[in-house]
Amino acid sequence: MDWGMKNRLSQLIQPDGRAMFLPIDHGYFQGPTYRLEEPGKTIEPLLPYADAIMLTRGILRSCIDPAKSKPIILRVSGGTSMARKDELDQEGITTSVKEAIRLNASAVSMSIFVGAPNEHQTLLNLSNLVNECEEYGIPVMAVTAVGTELEKREARYLALACRIAAELGARVVKTYYCREGFEKVVRGCPVPIVMAGGPKVESELEVFEFVHDGIQKGAIGVNLGRNIWQHDHPVAMAKAIRAIIHEDATPKEAMSIFEEERSKEKDEE
Ligand code: R5P
Repeated sequence: MDWGMKNRLSQLIQPDGRAMFLPIDHGYFQGPTYRLEEPGKTIEPLLPYADAIMLTRGILRSCIDPAKSKPIILRVSGGTSMARKDELDQEGITTSVKEAIRLNASAVSMSIFVGAPNEHQTLLNLSNLVNECEEYGIPVMAVTAVGTELEKREARYLALACRIAAELGARVVKTYYCREGFEKVVRGCPVPIVMAGGPKVESELEVFEFVHDGIQKGAIGVNLGRNIWQHDHPVAMAKAIRAIIHEDATPKEAMSIFEEERSKEKDEE
């Protein structure tokens, strides 16, 4: 592996082999997502807890201070919107590799839609992006996207999508956690896996438990957004999840970290 590729990957994956990525790219097809209406304000208090942030070039340029940034995972696919929910798999590559280099991205990311009508096109998008990025030592993180079909998040499907992403050259794969068989998803994917959070769930403990379980089963960390920044106490969530990833905190310990931070915030009000 070239020095540049190794260097970029080491900006993302920490010396302990783990990673906490914070995505704020949701607007690229969802528009001003709840609590991400002003991405700069949402992300600022959370930056200290993220190893890298994932976002589009537009939000990077307009909302992130280049002097205070974290390593960037630049989303370079898109071209669809929630206004045409049935066509979310019609993504193309929206941002050039030259632009990724200009923006000093540590990695680029894009979605593949395995099993969707445009599967073929999105898999070729990934292959072509990898061909180009490898020339410049830029890692590609593939996102195994399911669009609105959240029920697809089960082991057999996820294992298929993750393996294909790795076979086509992704250096990191972002996928969903599943309670049953997640270890098989990880075993079948020869490159590191990070877990997305999906739509916000009701309880904090539920998030801590799945992050912890996924890591025990071999994921290197998370690329988790809404369950942090849509929460009433996003900093407390970020701190607790970071402790699971980098300090091997149990879900119960994470809960104590969350509660301690939340009560500190209440005292300051
Ligand atoms: C989808 O909008 C993006 O690829 C997100 O980066 C990904 O789904 C992770 O975010 P969340 O944890 O909110 O699902």
